[in-house]
Amino acid sequence: MRDAPTHQRLDDDFSPRPGRRRRRRAPVVATALAAALPTVGAALVGAATLTPAHAADPEPLRDAAARHGRTIGVALSPGHLSQPGYAAIAEREFSLVVGENAMKWDATEPSRGQFSWSQADQVADFAETHDAELYGHTLVWHSQLPGWVSSLADPTDLRAAMTDHIDAVAGRYAGRVAAWDVVNEMWNEDGTRRDSVFQRVLGDGYVADALRAARAADPQADLCLNDYNIEGAGAKSDAMYRLVADLKADGVPVDCVGFQAHLIGGQVPSTLRSNLQRFADLGVDVRITELDIRVPTPASSASLAQQAADYRTVTEACLAVDRCTGITVWGVDDGHSWVPDVFPGQGAALLWDASYAPKPAYTAFADAWGADPGDGDPDPTDPPTAPPADGDCAVTWTANAWSTGYTGSVTLTNTSDAAWSSWTLAADLPAGQHLDQGWSATWSQSGTTITATNAAWNGTVAPGASVAVGYNASHTGDTSAPASVSVNGATCTTG
Ligand code: G3I
Repeated sequence: MRDAPTHQRLDDDFSPRPGRRRRRRAPVVATALAAALPTVGAALVGAATLTPAHAADPEPLRDAAARHGRTIGVALSPGHLSQPGYAAIAEREFSLVVGENAMKWDATEPSRGQFSWSQADQVADFAETHDAELYGHTLVWHSQLPGWVSSLADPTDLRAAMTDHIDAVAGRYAGRVAAWDVVNEMWNEDGTRRDSVFQRVLGDGYVADALRAARAADPQADLCLNDYNIEGAGAKSDAMYRLVADLKADGVPVDCVGFQAHLIGGQVPSTLRSNLQRFADLGVDVRITELDIRVPTPASSASLAQQAADYRTVTEACLAVDRCTGITVWGVDDGHSWVPDVFPGQGAALLWDASYAPKPAYTAFADAWGADPGDGDPDPTDPPTAPPADGDCAVTWTANAWSTGYTGSVTLTNTSDAAWSSWTLAADLPAGQHLDQGWSATWSQSGTTITATNAAWNGTVAPGASVAVGYNASHTGDTSAPASVSVNGATCTTG
């Protein structure tokens, strides 16, 4: 976000404009210390400026990123906020919010001059309510473009439609948006311009026109160009690099480049860090703007481990580049990701699974940012925590049976007001049933009582969130569910 309409970068000017939040970079020495010594560095560097994390809870990602002077963002779809697990993660973890679809042309101006703000306003209000930066995505893009724009053939008319759109949308959120993806996905893979209506009718100059219009509409927002498959060196990345260099040489306002990073597990480009750095050396900020890392589904423990390593690698690349302003993940959880719709058989690309349980990728990502994982000890300064009460959990229990055995599927939901940092389920199996083995937890049986204790990656369960586990058992005819189930000593409702 820019502090003054001078069209000059003011990275070291920390004076905020009234009513707006400004990203503040930590001193380099603090960044280096925190990166090198995740736990000790976090305590030392964070002590002066940040409220320490609750000792028993993992530190929110946003707090860890703040120690590095960066933000962790999320693509938000306001329609999903009615789901408590989705809302709890979105509210807690992120310091930047971008509408997954809400600010695109088809959402904001479906008919010429007829604007629709409800989705975009919800995203902007969410950002403000939760003290997060608002990131605008996107003003000019060939996709999710209403038919009325695609059919404009007269250059004067199309240029007017484009600049009017930018003026209306960027103007409405001026003072609230930290940065805009002004033009999105303008390149083919070989580094030639993509064939869009803007390219065909207006020619190469539409990008500079769009940037100038955005600067006029919101003099304080940073103005970015955004694309995918430019994360590593290559023809497409080279084309973006040359364009940014040319725009800056010509005095066209461009402040940042967004690297979407819709990646494939095991395929983080080896040139990611050096590529981010060469763009930064042009005098622009860089950001990982749409991170997800897809794997074949159903995911295996090996692919999730590789994905976790990849999230760490991307984070380390960003942290190694001083002008990398942070990372935005393209969605909260695997149940709300665009990936399976577009790449059938692939998915599981985000940090939380479809039950809102944190995945190995979350643990690695949080660790790479230096987040305090929580040590399980109560913080003596915290008010005493109420013991779990009956009804603080809900359980569904289903059996898929054959003659001598069955597979049990169990979903635990935290219906209390407080997050679980760990959980232990206990239940009495009906007569004749015997546990063979289970997954997604550590399972054991003593007499008729079975217990399941969370795995390392699914112990944290936010209020309203669920975790799914399962087991195989033998039986002698009765495959009914346990009559009573408890979690952390409190009796659950069953259904
Ligand atoms: O809103 C309609 C709804 O009315 C209709 O019933 C439903 C039926 O399919 O479709 C809904 O629209 C969908 C829209 O998302 C909103 O949910 C579209 O079909 C669907 O194609 C659209 O997908 C979005 C995609 O961009 C469109 O290109 C994804 O959610 C969104 O994650 C994705 O985001 C893009 C970034 O903007 C740019 N970079 C790539 C990234 C992933 O493709």
